[in-house]
Amino acid sequence: MIDLSVYIGGKKLKNPVLVSSGTFGFAKEYANFYDLKLLGGIAVKGITLKPRKGNKPPRIMETPAGILNSVGLENPGLDGFLEKELPFLRKYDVPIIANISGNTIEEYSLMAEKLNEHVDFIELNVSCPNVKEGGITFGTKPESIYEVTKEVRKATNIPLIVKLSPNVTDISEMAMAAEKAGADCISLINTLMGMAIDIDNRKPFFHNIVAGLSGPAIKPIALRMVWQVAQKVNIPIIGMGGISNWRDAIEFIMAGADAISIGTANFYNPLAPVEILKGIEEYMIKNNINSPKEIKINGGVVYHE
Ligand code: FUM
Repeated sequence: MIDLSVYIGGKKLKNPVLVSSGTFGFAKEYANFYDLKLLGGIAVKGITLKPRKGNKPPRIMETPAGILNSVGLENPGLDGFLEKELPFLRKYDVPIIANISGNTIEEYSLMAEKLNEHVDFIELNVSCPNVKEGGITFGTKPESIYEVTKEVRKATNIPLIVKLSPNVTDISEMAMAAEKAGADCISLINTLMGMAIDIDNRKPFFHNIVAGLSGPAIKPIALRMVWQVAQKVNIPIIGMGGISNWRDAIEFIMAGADAISIGTANFYNPLAPVEILKGIEEYMIKNNINSPKEIKINGGVVYHE
């Protein structure tokens, strides 16, 4: 009998396949494709204390094997989320991960406090590259990750996930700072900073010049970072970054992820998460593996002869 369940922060997820913040909106569109309760969890679009209109268009550009985005955290604000979006999500038996961004540590804490009884997990977004304040400004130094995580930890008693940016020299230092400050889980990676130039108009393609790169193009980098972080922390890891099929998902689990999250693939294949879940299940049956835990690093890949 295989058991697909995994634990994050002491909470059981029925399987290790999640969907990533910013690629699944507030789930309404995707509910037309499959029953959302099939998912291990849903990370909703990043929420801020007040509503945000987001960045001026253009906001998305296709690249070889990926996309650049400069959305700028468009969202209805915390109250809008609680009143207009959460009731729909709560119709499904699926854990909800509220991804939150603040301009200040106080804002992060206030949001965590208000969300405490309403969602299953909080994902601290210290890695959005598309806003002028908050986001990645908290996520590139271990000290600031420590500070914000420590304060948010005090404000909530539900499991706290810290979502890391790959735009740093050593991501494992960031993960260790989050763990030390009381995080229950690390999720990685958010987008890599990239840019594009409109050569006909001789202007940057995006108003912010720099945007976030995601999709299969970044998968090898994400995989390497998950592996690096897994060597250094003892809390669960949610691996993401360009996962587009079940083989990618197994690679991330072998590198040390407890769960995986599907992002950009949702845009071009809305069924990707359920197909990936089926693939993981079939792989486990074929290889006599009872739990995703067994696929993890010690039961899986031989790194050194
Ligand atoms: O621009 C955005 O809304 C992206 C958010 C993120 O990368 O976390």
